[in-house]
Amino acid sequence: MFDLLIKGGTLPDGTVSDIAVRGDRIAEIAPNITADAAETIDATGDLVSPPFVDPHFHMDATLSYGTPRVNASGTLLEGINLWGELREIATVDEMIARALRYCDWAASMGLLAIRSHVDTTPDHLNTVTAMLAVKEAVKDYIDLQLVAFPQVGLYRAPNGRENLIRALDMGVDVVGGIPHFERTMQDGADSLQDLCEIAADRGLMVDIHCDETDDPNSRHIETLAFETTRLGLEGRVAGSHLTSMHSMDNYYVSKLLPLIAEAEISAIPNPLINIMLQGRHDTFPKRRGLTRVKEMQAMGIRVGWGQDCVLDPWYSLGTADMLDVAFMGLHVAQMSHPDEMARCFTMVTETNAAIIGLQDYGLHKGAVASLVVLDAANPTEALRLRAARLAVVAKGKVIARSPRGDATLNLSGRPAQVRRRVT
Ligand code: FE2
Repeated sequence: MFDLLIKGGTLPDGTVSDIAVRGDRIAEIAPNITADAAETIDATGDLVSPPFVDPHFHMDATLSYGTPRVNASGTLLEGINLWGELREIATVDEMIARALRYCDWAASMGLLAIRSHVDTTPDHLNTVTAMLAVKEAVKDYIDLQLVAFPQVGLYRAPNGRENLIRALDMGVDVVGGIPHFERTMQDGADSLQDLCEIAADRGLMVDIHCDETDDPNSRHIETLAFETTRLGLEGRVAGSHLTSMHSMDNYYVSKLLPLIAEAEISAIPNPLINIMLQGRHDTFPKRRGLTRVKEMQAMGIRVGWGQDCVLDPWYSLGTADMLDVAFMGLHVAQMSHPDEMARCFTMVTETNAAIIGLQDYGLHKGAVASLVVLDAANPTEALRLRAARLAVVAKGKVIARSPRGDATLNLSGRPAQVRRRVT
């Protein structure tokens, strides 16, 4: 007797299999499981995937769009200034309420693991207090990992370093940074050395907002690779954004990519936000500002798609849908080959899970029983349709259901129902 049985679904690799759940674990995964279950989901013809994972988000700022006003210039820098105002007027309770509402959206979208940067700039650290409370509140259905993020610089902000350390002492999981926002290139490089040493001392992972600029000479990723290798942090460090690499000299990039690969640094481009914020100082042609995704992957560098923002000072849209994120990334990085489209789906599931170090993730016996049933036959169709999440299972419990994406039609001589699925 199982607690839950998902019958007949198609896994991302094309295998058709049943999945049996007992407690919060996958107990068996095989074709034609016949044992009884307390609850059964018929997924015949539908895609069953491990849950979506977002490796880069800002949950302390989410769902605050328009407060205290909208970002008129649309630039990263005006967004940082706006958030600086909001951060001082937002209360702990209000931040918790916004974040929990966002987590409801995420749960309904099958987005069940999120790495969120949390601003450690202000002395009151209300952001950290709020996000630690949210992490605890959602732990039964969302794995929320927090990054100590000195939004206005480790050294540029008063008490920037002290407050980052205080946040880590309060229980924040990962060390963050923003070297391109420090006062000088040298301060940026020094901050990376400092942050990587803090992470090495504490046995923590590192995730840096790295070179989020159109400046081709912003080369903190080189320093991050150096410090990662020097301190033996290989496989534990991520470079978020890396937009300057879009504009770098190709010869220099040919030297840089092997250094990133050698350091086993993961790359987290955020295509919705990069395409919206970068290139704002260009006339025409306007740069896309997305880092070199396919070139990195060809070098064996792990690259995942991140969401970054939903309805906040930097971005005025978003629905917690990682398929939206992958869909934009696919276009901007021109990943149109069938293998590349399928890889975009893997990037927002398995690859992102590996980047944040999620344990027991995936569809295999013994894994945590978290999965999504999608109204699509395969990963590429899921991307094309931004498919409905027919059912979302989190740690063994069905936590959300949505109707199929079909429509009725009232046209003479045409079918009464439209299905945009082709498989
Ligand atoms: Fe970010």
